[in-house]
Amino acid sequence: MNFHVLTLFPDMVRQGLDTSIIGRAMKEKHISLETVNIRDFSDNKHNRVDDYPYGGGAGMVMQAEPVYRAYGSVAEKSLAAGKGRKPRCIYLTPQGKVFNQTMVEDFAQEEELIFLCGHYEGIDERVLEEIVTDYVSIGDYVLTGGELASMVMIDAISRFVPGVLSNEESAQFESMQDNLLEYPHFTRPETWHDKKVPKVLLTGDHNKIEAWRWEQSLRRTKERRPDLMEKNKTLTVAYFSPTE
Ligand code: ADE
Repeated sequence: MNFHVLTLFPDMVRQGLDTSIIGRAMKEKHISLETVNIRDFSDNKHNRVDDYPYGGGAGMVMQAEPVYRAYGSVAEKSLAAGKGRKPRCIYLTPQGKVFNQTMVEDFAQEEELIFLCGHYEGIDERVLEEIVTDYVSIGDYVLTGGELASMVMIDAISRFVPGVLSNEESAQFESMQDNLLEYPHFTRPETWHDKKVPKVLLTGDHNKIEAWRWEQSLRRTKERRPDLMEKNKTLTVAYFSPTE
């Protein structure tokens, strides 16, 4: 999977992703990350890419042409490499569809993804109309730019790229797959601040442990994310009203 991020702050994106599991995935070439500095495509001698908004008002707006050229530099390369069609281009904005696990798995099917990060008051609408295929928000709050949002998406999508997670890591991170939260985890010591590890985890009885974890997952989801539980109606009914 090849990620391309169009941004005014390429270092922020590179540095943010170049550690831990995602950093390792890049080194092992399961994923690649190209950052494209929109400023490099400015047609202005001062390298400016923003201007005043028509109609007045506070803040500056990113101009269409530098964004269009930055996008073109990536889209053309990917067409030339014989990928057939232009890659999906995701614009990070609080006006987008709120990112969730279903969308993660959908985007993970792609070979190339372009992320467009806005700053200031936003980007000239005309270029968005021409290049953006998906408008995505990472939550109902406003960030100073799209960079952190693109990093969140790249992290979540990468987990679904084959080879990125070791077997142990994939088994560990199953939360959300079934719209369920993970069960609680414990490690040594057995007693900490007078709190004991649940006895069942010390029995070595894998069936019992699995049943306990499943029940904890359900309980936790019900308590902390009742909205997810709604999506799990069949599962919940099956669990809480056994037929036998
Ligand atoms: N840019 C600013 N706020 C954002 C958000 N909540 N999600 C995605 N991109 C953004």
